[in-house]
Amino acid sequence: MRKPASIAAPKGKLGILTPGMGAVATTVMAGVELVRQGESTPIGSLTQMGTIRLGKRTDARVPKIKDFVRLAELGDIVFGGWDVYSDDAYQAAAKAGVIDAADLNKVQKFLKSIRPMPAAFDQNYVKNLHGTNIKKGKTKFDLAEQLRDDIRNFKKSNKLDRVVMVWCASTEVFMKPEKVHDDLQSFEKAMKANDPAIAPSMLYAYAAISEGVPFANGAPNLTVDIPALEEFAKSKHVPICGKDFKTGQTLMKTVLAPAFKARMLGLRGWFSTNILGNRDGEVLDDPGSFKTKEESKLGALEYILQPKIYPDLYDKFYHKVRINYYPPRGDNKEGWDNIDIFGWLGYPMQIKVDFLCRDSILAAPIVLDLALFMDLAQRAGMRGIQEWLSFYFKSPMCARELYPEHDLFIQSMKLKNTLRWMMGEDLITHLGQEYYD
Ligand SMILES: NC(=O)c1ccc[n+]([C@@H]2O[C@H](COP(=O)([O-])OP(=O)(O)OC[C@H]3O[C@@H](n4cnc5c(N)ncnc54)[C@H](O)[C@@H]3O)[C@@H](O)[C@H]2O)c1
Repeated sequence: MRKPASIAAPKGKLGILTPGMGAVATTVMAGVELVRQGESTPIGSLTQMGTIRLGKRTDARVPKIKDFVRLAELGDIVFGGWDVYSDDAYQAAAKAGVIDAADLNKVQKFLKSIRPMPAAFDQNYVKNLHGTNIKKGKTKFDLAEQLRDDIRNFKKSNKLDRVVMVWCASTEVFMKPEKVHDDLQSFEKAMKANDPAIAPSMLYAYAAISEGVPFANGAPNLTVDIPALEEFAKSKHVPICGKDFKTGQTLMKTVLAPAFKARMLGLRGWFSTNILGNRDGEVLDDPGSFKTKEESKLGALEYILQPKIYPDLYDKFYHKVRINYYPPRGDNKEGWDNIDIFGWLGYPMQIKVDFLCRDSILAAPIVLDLALFMDLAQRAGMRGIQEWLSFYFKSPMCARELYPEHDLFIQSMKLKNTLRWMMGEDLITHLGQEYYD
């Protein structure tokens, strides 16, 4: 891979557009403003709090990531978004119930100023939503053109230098790649013919790429993970990445499974169940949307454990994921895992994980990091799938001929080594020189 000759400085303002202004998006917006006002700390954000070691361990060079690669400043960020409900970000955040009233009041004026643009939406793709703030257009192509106008107007009226888009809207029904997704020409033809294989999320991705705007997909929808849009992104020099923010249960899974494999411990079964009561949970109560999420959550273990290479340890382990809508919990999800492992001589053991997490609190820093890193990637001239951002995803996108990397520690190393590589620093391999000195 060729190192970027130079990385353009993050001058001027950066727009972050989110299709979807629900729990996750409004938690990022409120959080960034609370941090800007000096009222809070950006915990969970690698771009804001993370450091990177450079050179030898004895060199004591450990700058903050944001100083090392020069990311956009929080003060230069402007938010905008679309939603099928017309609530402004304050009302939406209050309904989502993630951030408490005392904190929301501190940023009320700011949040009220962010009003959702009408969405490109079709209920065939998300069943359990009934909003009215929706665009009209004869064809899907018309809707994409309207989205392009929205991006241009947002950029112009806020005097932005650059814009990135992070999909924070609901999970769409499960879709498989079809012929019309193969190349851009077929894709555009299908948009004009209102082909059912074109989901609303694809219109946002198409509009973003057309406008030179990097696109990150926080949901498990197919969206930008199709050859037509991948090629389009490459030809327009636009970075893309996805899918599905890695937050609660899958974060734990991609920490524990690599540990079992590293110690050659076997796995007989992994049963994961969740209860959650937010709008995301309601959407996932529909079998079509759940199927999309289920596929995304199931993939990680197979790739990490490699049953073909280690049949004695991982052949035919039973893996089940359940998500149950349970309104009393709101955004405060509970994820249980029962893990049946076995050790020396095949003796069985069990592990139970009960993660009482806050979904959007875990997702918000991911949105911020993705936006800032995607902006960096574009300023560095990188385009197409950004595999180094797999760290943030449950179902990382990768080149067709490769398999996705799910192990959190490999992902973290890849992310940091990519930053070192971008800046012309030595990559860190953790190989010890001391044995020979
Ligand atoms: N919170 C997490 O931990 C987490 C983790 C991984 C993925 N996700 C995904 O992130 C997404 C957002 O989660 P959330 O908790 O904020 O959900 P949410 O239901 O609170 O917000 C989603 C919003 O998207 C809007 N929407 C739906 N379709 C739209 C469209 N076509 N255009 C514009 N707006 C649209 C909905 O009206 C809703 O307000 C979901 O797809 C979810 O699966 C969340």
